[in-house]
Order: sequence, then C-alpha cells, then structure tokens
Amino acid sequence: MASSFPNPFSSFAPTTSTSTSTPSPISLHPSLRLSPSPRFRNPRRQSLTVKASLTTTPGSPNVLLQVKNLTAVIAESKQEILKGIDLVVHEGEVHAIMGKNGSGKSTFSKVLVGHPDYEVTGGSMMFKGENLLDMEPDERSLAGMFMTFQAPVEIPGVSNIDFLHMAWNARRRKQGLPELGPIEFYSILYPKLESVKMDATFLNRNVNEGFSGGERKRNEILQLAVLGADLAILDEIDSGLDVDAFQDVAKAINALLTPNNSVLLVTHYRRLLDFIKPMYVHVMVRIIRFYAFSRIKNPTGRLNGNMASEDGKIVKTGDISIADQLEKEGYKAISVV
Ligand SMILES: Nc1ncnc2c1ncn2[C@@H]1O[C@H](COP(=O)(O)OP(=O)(O)O)[C@@H](O)[C@H]1O
Ligand SMILES: [Mg+2]
Repeated sequence: MASSFPNPFSSFAPTTSTSTSTPSPISLHPSLRLSPSPRFRNPRRQSLTVKASLTTTPGSPNVLLQVKNLTAVIAESKQEILKGIDLVVHEGEVHAIMGKNGSGKSTFSKVLVGHPDYEVTGGSMMFKGENLLDMEPDERSLAGMFMTFQAPVEIPGVSNIDFLHMAWNARRRKQGLPELGPIEFYSILYPKLESVKMDATFLNRNVNEGFSGGERKRNEILQLAVLGADLAILDEIDSGLDVDAFQDVAKAINALLTPNNSVLLVTHYRRLLDFIKPMYVHVMVRIIRFYAFSRIKNPTGRLNGNMASEDGKIVKTGDISIADQLEKEGYKAISVV
C-alpha cells in the first residue's frame, strides 16, 4: 500500500557507503528519519517552549514521558483533535491507551513523534527531561522514541537491510560510537530476525513493498528489535495479524522490555493486553457536544449550527480491570462529564 500521508521525509538522503540505492521522494518512518527537513519545523516551537521540570524522587523510577494538557489540531484544516491530554510514563512501565475508533489515539501517537499532519497548539510534552516541541522527528527518534504505525508505509527503492543499517549507524553516530560495516551489522541483525520469526529474504525486499498486513507489522517489530527504544509507541500492533503472528509479535515485544524502557500500547482490543500486560490502562474518548438549536454561538463560531466539537481526551486511568470493564460493558460504561 502506498503511503497514506504526504511524503514527509522527502529530504531523506542515504548517508552510508552501504546504501546501494538512491531513493527518489520516499516516505520514511518518522522515528527513523536521518536528516532534518524544514517542513518539519514546528512554527510554534519557540512560543511553546517550556522548561524541563521533571522531578525524581530517590528510589523511584525516572519519568520518561510527561505530557501535560496537550492540545493539537490537524495542520491543514485546524480541526482540533486532541484536547488536553495528560499522561506520565516512568521508565520500565507498560501503558495501554484504549478508545473507540476516531477517539484520537493514533493522532496522539503521531503528535508524540512529530508527524507533520498535526500542529501542537498548547500544553507540553517532555521526554527524558527534554522538550519534544523543540525536537525534530529524527531528533526524537535518536533520543530513544520509536513508533510503529497502524498502517506502515512503503519505502520504494530502499531495501529493508539498507534501511535498518542506515538507521542503526545513525544511532551509533549519535552515541559517538563507530559505525558498523555490513558484515558486523548482519551479525547483530540475524538473531533479531529469528526473534520475530522473519525470513531473511525479507531483508532484500524494499521496505514494506508488497508486504502483507501481518508482514508489515512483523517488520515494524524487527525495526524496534534492531534499533531499540526507550519508549516504544505501538499503534494497533495487533491489527491484521493471525493468531500465530500475533503471538510471535507479542513475544518479541515482551522480550524487549527491560526495567529501563517503556511501551505505550495503543489498541482497542482487550486481547492484546493478555499477551503484553500493561500496568496502566487509559481510556481515550471522543466527546461530541451538539450545539443544535443553541441560541448562543458554538465554538465553531456558527449560530444555531448542527456542528459538534470533538475532543480527544484521556478520561479514565486505572489497571487492567478497566479493559475488562470495557469488554463487558462497552465504552458507554466510561462516563464522560
Ligand atoms: N490527517 C488527518 N486528516 C483529517 N482527519 C484526521 C487526520 N488525522 C486524524 N483525523 C481525524 O481525527 C479523528 C481521530 O483520528 P485517529 O487519531 O486516527 O483516531 P483513532 O486512532 O483513535 O481511531 C478522526 O475523526 C480522524 O478522521
Ligand atoms: Mg488509530
């Protein structure tokens, strides 16, 4: 499937001698982008700059991600999708964000990694004490964020192995470590392939080109397994997977968990949470308020319109019992005031 969003990574340029192809405009995973593009510059980043204010109590895990009252709009239409998201993730925690289709889960995930389709209009996002609003998507990636997409994109002209190798060496450079040649890199890559039960023939195919839905998801987890992440944001990682693939992927994700890294699982299926156990479950809703027949102006500025305002917000946080409640009673069980 072709990219469902405009090619945001068209400034991508291979930087290692191992790259055999010179891709024309391509879509590249934001968390793996290697060179900054002016298109990604957030015009509001200066005005939204906040000071690092993360506090750590001795003995307690460090705060990895702190999101406060985050609001964001679709860049093109300015329609507000996120309305005041609050979330704190510490090192070593697994969080799940659940919510109906259209509640803003993917939008929130993409805003965290700096997707250009969205503009942050307020609030703050801190990652390891750094202001994400001051960081380009590739900087966020190199700082340790990784996102798997609900619909992973193809990268025509770039083989899987070149892609992984380039991304790997970009991280090495950031860490001040020497780059690895193809043979050394392959010795690192090979066990990871086994961990996600992926055939080596996928390495020479272009990234996600002609891959089935399940193969794309495995490929995303392969990228995560190879590159590692302090915070992995996994958007509907279970969708499109058959039972065997689902278990392989869940096993591979669990194998990546350490006391220091964290996972944000975005899903609307309870089933995933049987395999990857979250410590916290958050429920995100889309609140629709109708203004029909109102005599006063609604927030869209129209009088007496039928327009609704749609707000993406986390309205409930708890443990796995919330997911059980959702499964039994549906989202109507989550009251929104
Ligand atoms: N790039 C976009 N252009 C237009 N509408 C969008 C875009 N991204 C998200 N939306 C809209 O925002 C709402 C939330 O979408 P999304 O974050 O994908 O929800 P979820 O992942 O919870 O299903 C939906 O109504 C969706 O159509
Ligand atoms: Mg989604």
